Amino acid sequence: MAGRSFSLTPKKVPQVNSKFRTIKTALPVPESISLLETLRAHEPASMGGQPPIVWESATGCEVKDRWGNRWLDWSSGVLVTNAGHGRKEIADAIVKQATSPLLHNYLFPNEARAALAKRLTELAPAPLKKCFLLTTGSEATECAMKLAKTWGIKQGGNKKDVIVSFEHGFHGRTLGAQLAGGIPALKSWITHEHPDYVQVPFPGDWRLKPEQRTFAAFEQALKAKGVEAKNVAGVIVESYQGGSASFMPVDVAKQLREWCTKNGAALIFDEVQAGFGRCGTFFAFEHYGVVPDLTCCGKGISSSLPISCVLGRPEIMDLYPPGSMTSTHSGNPICAAAALANLEILVKEKLSEQAAARGEELFAGLEAIRKQYAERVARVEGKGLVAGMHCVKPGTTEPDPDLAFRVVERAVEKGLLMFTPVGFMGATVKICPPLVISKEQVADGIAALGEAFAEVVAEIVKEVPASAK
Ligand SMILES: Cc1ncc(COP(=O)(O)O)c(C=O)c1O
Repeated sequence: MAGRSFSLTPKKVPQVNSKFRTIKTALPVPESISLLETLRAHEPASMGGQPPIVWESATGCEVKDRWGNRWLDWSSGVLVTNAGHGRKEIADAIVKQATSPLLHNYLFPNEARAALAKRLTELAPAPLKKCFLLTTGSEATECAMKLAKTWGIKQGGNKKDVIVSFEHGFHGRTLGAQLAGGIPALKSWITHEHPDYVQVPFPGDWRLKPEQRTFAAFEQALKAKGVEAKNVAGVIVESYQGGSASFMPVDVAKQLREWCTKNGAALIFDEVQAGFGRCGTFFAFEHYGVVPDLTCCGKGISSSLPISCVLGRPEIMDLYPPGSMTSTHSGNPICAAAALANLEILVKEKLSEQAAARGEELFAGLEAIRKQYAERVARVEGKGLVAGMHCVKPGTTEPDPDLAFRVVERAVEKGLLMFTPVGFMGATVKICPPLVISKEQVADGIAALGEAFAEVVAEIVKEVPASAK
């Protein structure tokens, strides 16, 4: 779990002054160091993992600090600002609601919550016709698993309570979410295996052999773990895995859907980072041509304030009687108003289609970079406006976290903003700009990323001792 943190010693970097990027100071900015040190002193170390630039404003695809630096954003925060940063329509909706004034009203009905639940269930395909609003993505995945277990137990008794999930999967950082997560390093604090949570290999993992990426392999893996199909309450899977941006094969998804139906297990797609146009369709699971029983949404739902939801089949969503499945901030009126304004933008500006179109250009550019460094970048995975570049030790499939980290660091120094690498060993450079990114901005970002790879690879080659060449 050893995370790498960025140095707080200012480094002189070449000045950048292009249409979308300006870097005119050392980085981190010397004047920002005391603020950065305050954060390091008063927050847990875990909060210090992102490039140390102090955001002062963010609009569209641009992030600025107060010292004149400007970044082209390829992070969307963390896949939140699908409609673009700082959208006026969303800010106006927030202000209108906040000054109405209604800041909070627990679960007493409010207009914004009613309008949002209705709108989300209109946008979701049948049978996902009920919506439970929550606050964070983890809360949504925890809730979906609870519903699946409750449904399973109701149908098949106490033994029908197994939640199947996938290796390398991520569903949040709370206990249930991490029991279902498939990243061992994140689970070291969970000292006992939980018999109801079982992980099997993810069929979209490119490191697996072709025969391991099949539905037969899924069934074999369950058998090897001693899980009988009749005891499975639910299968939870990210529509694409966040750590890699990899999708599972479509035929596996279709067979998984059939298997869940046949065995009375709830199929849960975790769309917390994949939904709301990100992958070129409104919901990412549309790529599979199947509909889950439950889906978890968050992040891009509001492009701003914290709000999440579970969308699902009424017979599962209605399992708990009034008052017994709630959350303090469920459907907070300001968050709901922000989400409604965001959904209007996504639909009106056809941002799913935009993501698909810009995605074509993005992937062409990223593939060109990959081909240039084919020994060190094994794959570019993803769809629409989410991509993962998988860095490997030369000519192997072994992850190269050092290359990924240095590329992101260099890109940031060039005015291209990305968050710290993610995924298997932290070797995936993740690219996820706001969906409003223009053609010109895609090209500009590709140019900056290409330069970052060129410089870092040249430095690494020089560092390798002559004897090892
Ligand atoms: C697929 C997925 N599920 C769940 C979560 C957890 O969301 P949150 O951090 O809002 O709890 C995340 C967050 O990154 C995610 O990517």
